[in-house]
Amino acid sequence: MTAPAAALLDELDERGIKLYISDGRLRAVAPKDAISGDLRQLIERHRAELMDLLGHGDGPAPSAFPLVTERLVLRPLRAGDEVDVLAYRGRAEVFGYLDDNPLTPATIGRYVAMMAQFASLDHPEDRLLLGAELDGHVIGDIALSRGRARHAQGEIGWVFHPDHSGHGYATEAARAALRLGFERVRLHRICARLDPRNAASVRLCERLGMRPEGLLRDERWLKGDWADVAVYACLDHEWRARG
Ligand SMILES: CC(C)(COP(=O)(O)OP(=O)(O)OC[C@H]1O[C@@H](n2cnc3c(N)ncnc32)[C@H](O)[C@@H]1OP(=O)(O)O)[C@@H](O)C(=O)NCCC(=O)NCCS
Repeated sequence: MTAPAAALLDELDERGIKLYISDGRLRAVAPKDAISGDLRQLIERHRAELMDLLGHGDGPAPSAFPLVTERLVLRPLRAGDEVDVLAYRGRAEVFGYLDDNPLTPATIGRYVAMMAQFASLDHPEDRLLLGAELDGHVIGDIALSRGRARHAQGEIGWVFHPDHSGHGYATEAARAALRLGFERVRLHRICARLDPRNAASVRLCERLGMRPEGLLRDERWLKGDWADVAVYACLDHEWRARG
């Protein structure tokens, strides 16, 4: 990573200008008239470094994992995690507000093998699932997905073991995932979609500084009834402002 190009990307971010690579070309989405002639020249001068940076910096390089937080190690799931993951994704109470059903000893192997493939956000429309390890055991997971490059949107989700609830682990892991999404993948907005009755999840959004954006009425059919979906989100400049 070269410092001038990285600094330029930060400055462009501040101005609401997003660079991305599509079909091998450097492209930009920007507010009207935001890219002055001088800025265009600056981008042109650093084109090669910017493309180099975005080519990899567009998502985390594989070496970016694990992400280590104060108490947790975050990394893609892998073979060997089955017992730990089944311990929480096998419990009915965890799925009260989720579309899926609890995993079973018969389905856990296939689930972990499938999720292990969601191991990077290098490309648009990639999906990442990070297991959160505490003292060598996976106690929860955080999903982060991204949409098409030009829209720079992401979505986050979380599932943690109820026995480890109430210690801030989900908050710590989700904050690291938001940092990854905003600071490395350079997403513009990251949202969470949740059942508004899911009080623990609502509080988690609030602790993370995600704003309520709206309520989608009867947006899905959940376990025998229509259910609302609340949308919470954070924008890149809101994230930066919080430091
Ligand atoms: C949503 C979910 C991850 C939240 O779990 P959680 O334990 O409440 O969240 P955290 O691990 O961040 O812990 C936060 C709690 O610990 C407390 N806490 C203690 N130490 C803390 C610390 N260092 N930092 C932050 N919070 C701390 C907080 O006050 C908070 O308690 P409160 O909610 O009673 O105020 C969990 O309920 C879950 O997995 N639910 C099932 C799956 C699900 O519904 N997922 C949502 C799909 S959208």
